Amino acid sequence: PAVGASVPHESARLHVSGQALYTDDLAQRTAGALTAWPVQSPHAHALVRSMDTTAALAIPGVIRVLTAQDVPGINDCGIKHDEPLFPSEAMYYGHALAWVLGEDQNAARAGAAAVVVDYLPLPSLISVAEAIQAQSFQGMKRTISRGDADAALATADRVMSGVTEFSGQEHFYLETQAALATVDEGGQIFVQSSTQHPSEAQAIIAHVLGRASNEITVQSLRMGGGFGGKEMQSHGFAAIASIGTLLTGRPVRVRLNRTLDMTMTGKRHGFHTSWEAGFSSEGKLLALKALLTADGGWCLDLSEAVLARALCHVDNNYFIPHVHLDGRVAKTNKTSQTAFRGFGGPQGMLMIEDILGRSAPLLGLAPEELRRRNFYRDGDSTPYGMPVRHAERVTTMWEEALERSNFAERRREVNAFNAAHPGRRRGLAITPVKFGISFNLVALNQAGALVHVYKDGSVLISHGGTEMGQGLHTKMLQIAATSLGIPLSGVRLAPTRTDKVPNTSATAASSGTDLNGGAVKNACEQILGRIAVVAGAMLGVPAQDVRFSGGLATGLGVTDQSFTFAEVVMQAYLQRVQLWAAGYYRTGGLHWNPELMQGEPFKYFAGGVSVTEMEVDGFTGTYSTRRVDIVHDAGDSLSPIIDVGQIEGGYVQGVGWLTLEDLRWDESNGPHRGRLLTQSASTYKLPSFSEMPELFNVHLMEHAEEEGAVYGSKAVGEPPLMLAFSAREALRDAISSFGPAHHSVELASPATPEAVFWAIQESCKAA
Ligand code: MTE
Ligand code: MOS
Repeated sequence: PAVGASVPHESARLHVSGQALYTDDLAQRTAGALTAWPVQSPHAHALVRSMDTTAALAIPGVIRVLTAQDVPGINDCGIKHDEPLFPSEAMYYGHALAWVLGEDQNAARAGAAAVVVDYLPLPSLISVAEAIQAQSFQGMKRTISRGDADAALATADRVMSGVTEFSGQEHFYLETQAALATVDEGGQIFVQSSTQHPSEAQAIIAHVLGRASNEITVQSLRMGGGFGGKEMQSHGFAAIASIGTLLTGRPVRVRLNRTLDMTMTGKRHGFHTSWEAGFSSEGKLLALKALLTADGGWCLDLSEAVLARALCHVDNNYFIPHVHLDGRVAKTNKTSQTAFRGFGGPQGMLMIEDILGRSAPLLGLAPEELRRRNFYRDGDSTPYGMPVRHAERVTTMWEEALERSNFAERRREVNAFNAAHPGRRRGLAITPVKFGISFNLVALNQAGALVHVYKDGSVLISHGGTEMGQGLHTKMLQIAATSLGIPLSGVRLAPTRTDKVPNTSATAASSGTDLNGGAVKNACEQILGRIAVVAGAMLGVPAQDVRFSGGLATGLGVTDQSFTFAEVVMQAYLQRVQLWAAGYYRTGGLHWNPELMQGEPFKYFAGGVSVTEMEVDGFTGTYSTRRVDIVHDAGDSLSPIIDVGQIEGGYVQGVGWLTLEDLRWDESNGPHRGRLLTQSASTYKLPSFSEMPELFNVHLMEHAEEEGAVYGSKAVGEPPLMLAFSAREALRDAISSFGPAHHSVELASPATPEAVFWAIQESCKAA
């Protein structure tokens, strides 16, 4: 069957041959499309006193300048109504205040440069530290609490405390934000958007235009990467294109270049955390008290949800009996930080992994020993009250990863290497991942699909999820083929559109396959139920004795005849049996109280274990990754090649966040305070070919069927990112060998070569 087969990504050939179309390719094929270009604020915070567009309009090719007066409906593109599309107050350096429509990009760009804005600069807050100092917060504060953390800390054998601060991450999807809007004769708007969330784009465009949702259709053909950055941040651009087309009657495209994208769109949240952790003398975690402050940027967008997931992942795979975690979102004059693969989970988990990595030597334990001693066991529950089912899975993967990586022997080799090389040191580390699958907000866990079977037996499916390279469409094709019992080649997939499947959730939280797969399967089963009656009559058996498999309908006990799927379908048509169905799925068993932060918000936990070996140069702080071994739980994998690709990509993206990618804003009091300093690939270092591990072994856990999930599979999109903690811990291990035994290494995040260099200096001083 198609499910479980190692098939290539459904668009792989198109991707690699350059034929796959993206939103802006569609714009290039649209005659007469205008280009929109933003007027960006050169201040981190300023009032817009006035704006003069005369000079811009005088430039040949400039058609119109869009300002707040042009908004037919509500001037807001957020879900929290704190996100004016055309603001009267610039909230960050680079904030778009107006948009110029030009015949081409050059005209629009020249026009934007010619708009004269009179600013009244205001004081700004750039770093989280400044925001905390000024008590500048936004949204709800959240707390997760269990037991009595203060009392447990007071009696713990050892109490460690510290601050862990870490930076955010630029999504750097290869395709930047893009939208193309057209208007038809009746004033209906059709928007092509590179978005993970077409339904929300539709809703936001509708309220910006003052229209009903049924007048707006949004299509997301495919994205050249989203990674959470197109879950919400794409909507404003789609709204600009929509206003532009409504007012000019011409198609309007928005496509950010890389610097616009980096300076205007939100990133992963950096966090400031402070903590106190109590341990028993044997290294059992007894209590944790922490304050997490997420750097939300200028408006909320998804920050509260990101914070909630961060708090729900502070435990990672560790049982902590007494917990008190406070979380809040700082408001700063920066881009509005947003969803990014892991959605806060990585941030919560980075804190606990940093605590364990720093505490292990002080407790006289190897870090892997400290981690292992604190693993969840069956019967334990999380600080937010969810039982940890299948807790033994991570433990099993841990043992397997130790074995597959030959950990014990390589530990000895690393030690021997380090003893023989004063200037170069190696480090080895193993870390676990446990990640909750489902949207925290229960209502979002639903999905729809539309499956058409045509008279010739060919099948066309649509579903509510979007494709961003993760292979969701491939999996949906596999699910449809398997449920209908036909070969993969018999099924095609139509682009995701709001007029096919309404009220969809974002393709996010790694739940795209669970939700949409459930809906596709449901639709296929409805159709099968109907045509089984037809096939039963053809075969002379009751409907329940008909089997569809391998493109054939066969009857139980019938050996002398069978019919092709197409033959049955044609018969069904002639008998006036409906050959299409709308499918629906909702995840059962979830409940969550967002006020109390208690409940069972996740259908299950996905996760894995990784082992990384790094080599560090003591003179420069530069490093390379020698070997990575991963064992990952993808359930019964629907699509092994896709899943392994997600695991490799996720790991590498996580390593980028933790080691290379260094977002810097101008925090000086100079004229460019608040400006993003790393606004292109020349200053923002992404993992590239030379940073790949020399050896990269990914193994999917066997016999991993997840009951109740579609074909026993598990979500795989985000969890692997957090496998990258073993790279950071391997760096810490290598650095520690420059100093005495049992000293604690503090490592900045990202652990850039520069940060590693300074950590080595500290270790040398301790010696
Ligand atoms: N993989 C690729 N190639 N490109 C992406 O943009 N996004 C990630 C992950 N894997 C992403 C990706 C994120 S943030 C999520 S939530 C999931 O894919 C979403 O898709 P899924 O629910 O189908 O796994
Ligand atoms: Mo992913 S961060 O949930 O889009």
